[in-house]
Amino acid sequence: MTSADPRTVVLISGSGTNLQAIIDAVEAGSLNIKLTAVISDQPEAFGLERARAAGIPAIVVNFSKYDNRDDFDSALAETLEQLNPEIVVLAGFMRILPTAIVARYHGQMLNIHPSLLPKYKGLHTYRRVLAAADTFHGTTVHYVIPELDAGPAIIQYRVAIHSDDTENSLASRVQRGEYEIYPLAIDWVASKRVQLQANQVLFDGQPLTEPKLIDEYA
Ligand code: GRF
Repeated sequence: MTSADPRTVVLISGSGTNLQAIIDAVEAGSLNIKLTAVISDQPEAFGLERARAAGIPAIVVNFSKYDNRDDFDSALAETLEQLNPEIVVLAGFMRILPTAIVARYHGQMLNIHPSLLPKYKGLHTYRRVLAAADTFHGTTVHYVIPELDAGPAIIQYRVAIHSDDTENSLASRVQRGEYEIYPLAIDWVASKRVQLQANQVLFDGQPLTEPKLIDEYA
């Protein structure tokens, strides 16, 4: 890590396995960011323990302690403002952010969503993809825009669905891919290999017409 590495804040709500993959990549030297803080809206999120174990400040903006959504959003915005991140990473953060926060970090905020977007926005993607008898599923890293799970995509990881797959078996294969593509995409953004310009992803300065794709068995 060098002083030029971009200040990065990770927002979580739960177990933080993606956060752990990010921490591991930073420690391994393959992801060049400075992890400034981890913020959770849930005081019990296990990801907070992961942050503390790695020596990263773990901050709780406790959703249930606020009288209304606006007060929570203001507290979150203020916490972020003080940290002054150059990159904001959503890693299992289970709240839809208000437009003001999304706009503030336009081109600097990433999310990972467990589907091959634009398919299966929203929740329960594993259940839905199995019910639809699709042949492929996966996960997508994308820039965040106000519309849910709709921002410009950077990279996808694709797995073939097996006839005996359950939600759990499919999730575990897709999540292995998340731990690969999320640190990679964040590093691209940190190094400015990937940039957002007028809602278009640029890769090495060229428009990315389709997200990069990694296949499970490639
Ligand atoms: C990930 O699978 C991601 O796709 C979704 O939320 C999950 C978070 O898991 N956005 P974890 O907290 O990183 O373990």
